Amino acid sequence: MADRVYIFDTTLRDGEQSPGVSLNKEEKLEIARQLAKLNVDVIEAGFPVASPGDFAAVQAIAEEVRGSVICGLARANFNDIDRAWDALKGAEKPRIHTFIATSDIHLKYKLRKTREEVLRLAVEAVQHAKQYTEDVEFSAEDASRSDLSFLCEVLEAAIEAGATVVNIPDTVGYAVPAEFGEFIASIRRRVKNIGRVVLSVHCHNDLGLAVANSLAAIQAGANQVECAINGLGERAGNAALEEIVMALYTKSGYFGRETGIKYDEIYRTSRLVSTLTGMSVQPNKAIVGKNAFLHESGIHQDGVLKERTTYEIMNPELIGIPQTNIVLGKHSGRHALRERLAELGYTLTDAELDKAFARFKELADRKKEITDLDLEALVKSEIRLS
Ligand code: KIV
Ligand code: ZN
Repeated sequence: MADRVYIFDTTLRDGEQSPGVSLNKEEKLEIARQLAKLNVDVIEAGFPVASPGDFAAVQAIAEEVRGSVICGLARANFNDIDRAWDALKGAEKPRIHTFIATSDIHLKYKLRKTREEVLRLAVEAVQHAKQYTEDVEFSAEDASRSDLSFLCEVLEAAIEAGATVVNIPDTVGYAVPAEFGEFIASIRRRVKNIGRVVLSVHCHNDLGLAVANSLAAIQAGANQVECAINGLGERAGNAALEEIVMALYTKSGYFGRETGIKYDEIYRTSRLVSTLTGMSVQPNKAIVGKNAFLHESGIHQDGVLKERTTYEIMNPELIGIPQTNIVLGKHSGRHALRERLAELGYTLTDAELDKAFARFKELADRKKEITDLDLEALVKSEIRLS
């Protein structure tokens, strides 16, 4: 589909690199199942060589989760790639994602390698990965601070070696939208055979521009964006999946590009990731923050009551934000609890539900109204960790 933008979710890899976040295998599996329901095109499940735990989680996701491509990260060396493949080989649609830095600053201080060496390592890594799977992604780390001619040379060689996706990371979130769009357009013009592969971008949020840069890249011809739920990721995070997707949807007349995302799974996915990672979502966060669809001023309330679109550009129901009149309290039954938990992304077994219901009743005796935050805390502390 010409106008399709592929959504590559890296919540479980770059997102898990957020300071303070550590997910166990079960939690990663639960998020991966939800990402598949959200219908992301690619789930980057982890970095298998990083630890035995990461390996086991990628392996479990590869064996169980169907529909999305399952991807594992590997530096541009044979050991990382072999380990990634060992973890990924049970996947229905496996992808090896190998990367090496191309900026002079990384070459000089981090890799201590020449441009010729980096070019050779990139080609060898792609060729090595290609023996295992057809679907190989190559990333030029710190691409946005790299010399454009050298970057184009490496990308061209990676494509020649068999890469099916080439990714342009703004690793340190240094780009600004018009400049990044022009950068992507130059790559499209200069790299031979770029039209035969998927051109991807991966933007970090150090200047708060990750989503804007990703959208500028899409306008310049990128057809995959790498992003994370709630914008999780290293330092200030990655581009927020829900913001990119809803910008493309809400401004479809402007962008003319579509994703395969099931919009009504967005809120549930956001809540699940927030609960399991312990990273709360700021109240005024676009799309999924608790204030995103609340109206405080009298003028706005009056407008929305007369006609929702006076002050709302999106329908919260479309994103899966529960529009329920049911308030959970001590008179609520098991069925209402099950339904609300499902809306928040939790599918409990009967035994788990019995336990949750008993705890819910105890809580409801003390608290008049049980909020979604109470329920999430209850599931996390009483059910998932026991
Ligand atoms: O930010 C980055 O450059 C990365 C690469 C490994 C894709 O996360
Ligand atoms: Zn990154």
